[in-house]
Amino acid sequence: MADAADVERAAVLGAGTMGHGIAQVCAQAGIDVVLYDVDDAALQRGLAGIKKSLEKAVEKGKARRDEAEAALRRVTVLKDLDAACRRADVVVEAVPEKLELKRKLFAEVERHVAPEAMLASNTSSLSIERLAEGLARPERFLGLHFFNPVPLMPLLEIVVGPRTGAGVVVAAAALGRRLGKEPIVVQDAPGFASSRLGLALGLEAIRMVEEGVASATDIDKAMELGYRHPMGPLKLTDLVGLDVRLGIAEYLHQTLGERFRPPELLRRMVGEGKLGKKSGQGFYEWTE
Ligand SMILES: NC(=O)c1ccc[n+]([C@@H]2O[C@H](COP(=O)([O-])OP(=O)(O)OC[C@H]3O[C@@H](n4cnc5c(N)ncnc54)[C@H](O)[C@@H]3O)[C@@H](O)[C@H]2O)c1
Repeated sequence: MADAADVERAAVLGAGTMGHGIAQVCAQAGIDVVLYDVDDAALQRGLAGIKKSLEKAVEKGKARRDEAEAALRRVTVLKDLDAACRRADVVVEAVPEKLELKRKLFAEVERHVAPEAMLASNTSSLSIERLAEGLARPERFLGLHFFNPVPLMPLLEIVVGPRTGAGVVVAAAALGRRLGKEPIVVQDAPGFASSRLGLALGLEAIRMVEEGVASATDIDKAMELGYRHPMGPLKLTDLVGLDVRLGIAEYLHQTLGERFRPPELLRRMVGEGKLGKKSGQGFYEWTE
């Protein structure tokens, strides 16, 4: 694959929250996409999600109806990995955040895909070096970290492993721009750039609540009004999920040390089922 203009076909593995969004932005950029999942219901939900999101884009005047319809026609859903990958120029994996699951999937993908295809993981925390272990062509492999919801979030974090080839990084950045994203290039370090910085702020904000420095609302206002953050760190923690943030904090604590030790308050809230928006209660109360 020489550059992004040559990408005609993509395979997206996993049709969940991220996978269907990634498939949508590929289709809107004129790329034929196969969305693959092991679960029929997930494929149907993914396709319905793409339809709904395209419909919204038309309603808001962000896409023309004929463009949205053409994008939808470019998406095929399949439960057959071989057929999904065989003709793909790029494969983006978005299955659950489990090292062994992803590794096993990529080992199988390599058996079906063309040798020059780009292989990418949408992992939000796992090491690209470790994910690439066992691959025959690790130089084709890298992280493409999209953000949720994919059609709306402009950032693409390109994560470069020690064996990723320079040409693949250039091609990935060009592909990102073609998908309407602003790429940043980050080395394969725990938490990359986005999760590491975002979590540092989130954990400190939780410690400030713990110490009674100010209320959650006022801490969030400090960042929203004083630093122009679109959302304060505690509200964001509620949206991401306290359990998800605790999982990443534990990983960063193990890999980067004391400064990422999860605050007791975070552990206690997760233990009490206060997971944020999805459970109705976090640093804020969430009602319909
Ligand atoms: N949700 C987010 O906000 C977010 C943001 C950035 C990155 N990520 C990362 O993206 C990846 C996917 O997250 P998600 O939130 O979309 O998960 P999700 O649970 O919504 O979707 C995962 C999908 O993968 C499918 N799946 C499971 N095993 C599979 C297999 N062997 N082959 C094919 N499909 C399989 C499931 O059926 C499900 O549909 C994770 O690595 C996550 O860390 C998530």
